[in-house]
This record gives sequence, C-alpha cells and structure tokens, in this order.
Amino acid sequence: MTTAPKDKHPPADRQVRSRQRVADHGEVFTAEREVNAMLDLVRQETERIDSRFLEPACGTGNFLIEILRRKLAVVDGRYKRSRLEYERYAVLAVSSVYGIDILLDNVLECRRRLFDLFDAQYTGRYKKEARDECRAAVAYILGRNIIHGDALTLRQVSSPDGGDDPQPIVFSEWALTTGSWMKRRDYKFRELLDRAERKELALFAHDREAFIPEPVREFPSVHFLRVGEAGD
Ligand SMILES: C[S@@+](CC[C@H](N)C(=O)[O-])C[C@H]1O[C@@H](n2cnc3c(N)ncnc32)[C@H](O)[C@@H]1O
Repeated sequence: MTTAPKDKHPPADRQVRSRQRVADHGEVFTAEREVNAMLDLVRQETERIDSRFLEPACGTGNFLIEILRRKLAVVDGRYKRSRLEYERYAVLAVSSVYGIDILLDNVLECRRRLFDLFDAQYTGRYKKEARDECRAAVAYILGRNIIHGDALTLRQVSSPDGGDDPQPIVFSEWALTTGSWMKRRDYKFRELLDRAERKELALFAHDREAFIPEPVREFPSVHFLRVGEAGD
C-alpha cells in the first residue's frame, strides 16, 4: 500500500492566520499531529472507503484531508491494478467526506486541497492514462459536499439568487449501486439532525425504530464519471 503525498497548502503548518479571524470566527486550525491522534481513535472508520465524515466547521479541511489520505491509501492498495476500479473507489472515497464553513475562502481552499490530494495520487499512479472525466467528477462532488454555510443556523451563507433568504443546507448522499452506477439523493441537513436526535432518544427508550430519512430530491443512477451531468 502506498501513501498519498503530503499536501503543502498553508495552513497545514500554520494554526492562526490573523488575530482578527480568531476573534471574528474562532479560526484556529488543528495541527496535523492532533488531527491524526484523534482520527486514530476511529481508525477503522477512517480506513473504510465509504464511511461518511462531516466536519461542521471545517476551515480548510485539516481533518477531512487526513481522512481522505487514509481512504485513498486503501483504494490505492486494493485497486491500483485496474484503473476503472481505482477510479470508482477513489470517487466513492471523495464522495464520503463532507464539510461546512462560514468563510468562503476556507471553503474554496478546502475543496482545492482535497482535489489536489486526489489528483496527485491519481495522476501519479496512472500518468497520461488518468482521465479528465474522473477529475471532473471529483471536482463536482467536492463542490457539492464542501458547503459554504452556517453550521448553527443550518443554512447556506448566501441565497443562490443573491437575495437575503439563505436556503437550507442540503447534503448529497452518493452511493454505488451496481457496477459503475452511482445514485445521488439529497437531504436537508436539519432533517438529518432532527431524525438523528429522535433516533438517539428512541434507542434510549429501547425502541429500535429504523432511521430512514426522506430525500428532498432523488436522481436517476448514472455512471460515476457522469455524476456532474445533473448540473446543480
Ligand atoms: C477552530 S477553526 C477549526 C477549523 C478546522 N475544523 C480545524 O480543526 O482545523 C473554526 C472554523 O469554523 C468556522 N466557523 C465559525 N463559525 C461557523 C459557523 N457558524 N458555521 C460554520 N463554520 C463556522 C471558521 O470560519 C473556522 O474556519
């Protein structure tokens, strides 16, 4: 099994950008050593390609980048002999990491770091055989999964039409169905949280009611390289 290269983006080695940002947004990034120590507490999950992680105030993604690095190392170790298999599971790994941040520059940097990590490993492995369709699928998924939003109000920071009615945060679930087919279902974050809380209460009461949230939108299965073709 090979390990993906370390990313060189700041602030991987810098925990504070400015006093103002600390005062305004509590922006203090977690150092790599602490991130890895915490992730080691759930090591098996971080190495499961499809286990889903949400970092609700993700900054530039210090946790998500290490989670993706671990998952991609598993993908590389298991599937490198077949480019298609590698692509399918690398896309699935990317699709399993989610983040929210209130600052747009952090959101953009987080998406870019995750993309660059994937691309460095993918291009390093397959060189000229690496395909732009796969890069486009990864970029599209990261555009949906790393959200510019407020994790307290559970709303996006700005309305898509520029008005002052911010829309609820909606997460896309991505799942491989059969072979290379991928299914997307969208869920309101608030409903996922409400349901999760209710389930916890139900478990406390020894009521094993299943947790099956209702999607707000469901898309037909498509080839995983074409997930971006739905357009939004
Ligand atoms: C302490 S930093 C942590 C960043 C990252 N999780 C880490 O450990 O390196 C907090 C981040 O939360 C963001 N933030 C602050 N308030 C937020 C809110 N209401 N919703 C989403 N993000 C928020 C800030 O922009 C900042 O990037």
